[in-house]
Amino acid sequence: MLLLALESSCDETAAAVVRDGRTVLSSVVASQIAVHAEYGGVVPEIASRRHLEAVVPVVEQALRQAGVWFPDLQGVAATQGPGLAGALLVGLSTAKALAFANRLPLVGVNHIEGHLFASFLERPVEFPFLALVVSGGHSHLYRVDGFGRYLTLGQTIDDAAGEAFDKVAKLLGFPYPGGALIDRLAVDGNPAAVRFPRPLLHDGSCNFSFSGLKTAVLTHLQKYPLSGPEDQRLPDICASFQAAVCDVLVAKTSAALTDSGCSRLVVAGGVACNSALRREMARLADARGIELHIPSPPLCADNAAMLAVPADYYLEQGMESELGLDALAVWPL
Ligand code: KG4
Ligand code: ZN
Repeated sequence: MLLLALESSCDETAAAVVRDGRTVLSSVVASQIAVHAEYGGVVPEIASRRHLEAVVPVVEQALRQAGVWFPDLQGVAATQGPGLAGALLVGLSTAKALAFANRLPLVGVNHIEGHLFASFLERPVEFPFLALVVSGGHSHLYRVDGFGRYLTLGQTIDDAAGEAFDKVAKLLGFPYPGGALIDRLAVDGNPAAVRFPRPLLHDGSCNFSFSGLKTAVLTHLQKYPLSGPEDQRLPDICASFQAAVCDVLVAKTSAALTDSGCSRLVVAGGVACNSALRREMARLADARGIELHIPSPPLCADNAAMLAVPADYYLEQGMESELGLDALAVWPL
């Protein structure tokens, strides 16, 4: 089945053409990051307007790169939620129009479900598996028993992991979103330089909390202010903060592996690009003798190709969506 998929839940307008939920023929991502960086975060109204400008050229580019046109397609998929309502509406309405005009089945997909299955585009994973989804808006642990069969084992009780990275980056004076910059600077830092807290590490749950960690970085900076962007302590602070996040993510994932009895682990979402997290998760998988799947960075970050994996399955099952389906700003898996 040849599918066109559209993603517009936050600040990336993306379209992809994927065959059989496996082979990516094209994946185009138009990022708005530079526009939002000026404001220190995503401005929803600006995001919607940018999606509107980008969506048609992005779809055309995805089709052209794949060497296909509408008569070749067997379906259209789009992110239905969760995300910014106005942003979601652009991709979803476009998908509805394209599906209606070309008499193609439409399927609305949960954005998190896309992240869960992104690694299938590189190497299929057998069910059941444990999935850690860490992005700008989510920090969740799921046991995945099949398409549409998810059990939430843990989640953040306040900030998401990516949100914590971006807020700490802001405290350090980095432009939005600063997660990747913390990762880059941390390479030259000492992770043991500052002992930041590991929130909820020993509470016996699989939940996360990152807001106290962000406050601990703020308190540290108030006590020992930075002299400027060239301050020699920056790499140490980045490495120490990153180590605290990774310690918590790894410990909670390890606990969830035990609780769920899973022997396969998927780590996904934008924060799964983090080099220290990738290294620590590889170490955990080695120590426990389990199979680890972390998509390559372009598939960890927001993209449309990942949506085609569950969409292909749902359409194969005849589970197409009504054209009247609405965007869902909040939509737990
Ligand atoms: O999945 P994603 O692209 O969008 C959402 O669905 O939220 O994730 C974006 C998040 C941002 O918070 C960004 O700072 C973070 O992923 N991120 C990173 C790295 N690359 C992206 N965080 C830490 N280290 C990185 N290398
Ligand atoms: Zn995402």
